[in-house]
Amino acid sequence: MTTNNKNTQLGFNTRAIHHAYDPQQHHGALVPPIYQTSTFAFPNVAYGAACFAGEESGHFYTRISNPTLALLEARIASLEQAQGAVVFGSGMGAITSCIWSMLQPGDELIADITVYGCTFAFFNTGLTQFGIKVRFVDMSNLDSLRAALADCTAKRRVVYFETPANPNMRLVDIAAASQLAHQYHALTVVDNTYCTPYLQQPLNLGADVVVHSATKYLGGHGDLMAGAAAFVDPELAQKVRLFGLKDMTGAVLSPNDAHLVMRGMKTLSLRLDRHCDSAEVVAQMLEEHSKTSKVCYPGLPSCTQHDLAKQQMRRFGGMIAFELIGGMEAGIRFMDALQLVTRAVSLGDAESLAQHPASMTHATYTPEQRAAHGISDGLVRLSVGLEDLSDILLDIEQALEQS
Ligand SMILES: Cc1ncc(COP(=O)(O)O)c(C=O)c1O
Repeated sequence: MTTNNKNTQLGFNTRAIHHAYDPQQHHGALVPPIYQTSTFAFPNVAYGAACFAGEESGHFYTRISNPTLALLEARIASLEQAQGAVVFGSGMGAITSCIWSMLQPGDELIADITVYGCTFAFFNTGLTQFGIKVRFVDMSNLDSLRAALADCTAKRRVVYFETPANPNMRLVDIAAASQLAHQYHALTVVDNTYCTPYLQQPLNLGADVVVHSATKYLGGHGDLMAGAAAFVDPELAQKVRLFGLKDMTGAVLSPNDAHLVMRGMKTLSLRLDRHCDSAEVVAQMLEEHSKTSKVCYPGLPSCTQHDLAKQQMRRFGGMIAFELIGGMEAGIRFMDALQLVTRAVSLGDAESLAQHPASMTHATYTPEQRAAHGISDGLVRLSVGLEDLSDILLDIEQALEQS
């Protein structure tokens, strides 16, 4: 079966499995071959020159393009309903390649106060070294975003957020924030790592760019590093490829890992439905437990952003953040007591993973900084895996008793 970008009437799963690939053009191979090559031979000088001039669309060097990477890009573009996509060697490769391509010295980035730690470091200490102004605002409050945009005098502006945000699960209203950004001539970039296009499609809600750590749910098996970006504007996609990726970061994805991401994507909806089913039960159990003071899961009716979640997410995902009574000490005791759930950063794998930001990913922040970014000392981040739900529940319950 051959499908192309325009053929979006096929279902999500069909496109995740078949899009843009015809076995008959590859000796009948059911699974797309892996083009494990760094460079490509030119039949003659004229063809090579035309490739470099952009007059021929052939592949000539894997840092710029490769058939295996191109197939993954076509599939991600199709699933995100985008006009173009670029893949990278990591999520940070995707984020940095995009932002370096979208902003110049004197421009401004307006970012949500809660973003993944390395994204925060890139914005806060990286971009600012190169003359880009960075402002952090609480985008769950649209008035704060409006005030920041109104105050911004830069020629180019980018609004950046994650929803749900890592690690505390705060949501941002994608449609409203994108509309506001556009009123002030800003482009919106949304990190869709926690949801994947199966649960949320930011471009359909008005965002301009979606970025992913494909290391997480898209790959889904904890065995690779990868990133992706999908674009409404194909010219911006090309700029990110030919400048951000090629010249600024060089964060190229290996063809082997692109193959593994495509393999993972074939079961994306199956895995995510199972992650969601289990996370809904775990969140409910945590909410009712006497050792927790707060559970942040957008699927809980008690979540203050539950209505927004229903509006922009298909289901509520596999990630939960919860606060333990007893702060830092309780967090460490809970983590050390876990027997099945693995103490590890990362998320979206078959294995359930837990991390305690205050003693792990955000240990270098002062308690005041953590509080300012909505990360309390007793906060635990849980990535609910694909194991039997009864086993996950038993392990968390016994660790809670010891917290
Ligand atoms: C929301 C989010 N965005 C981006 C990244 C960075 O991705 P990577 O680790 O693939 O570079 C992560 C990593 O944990 C993440 O959680």
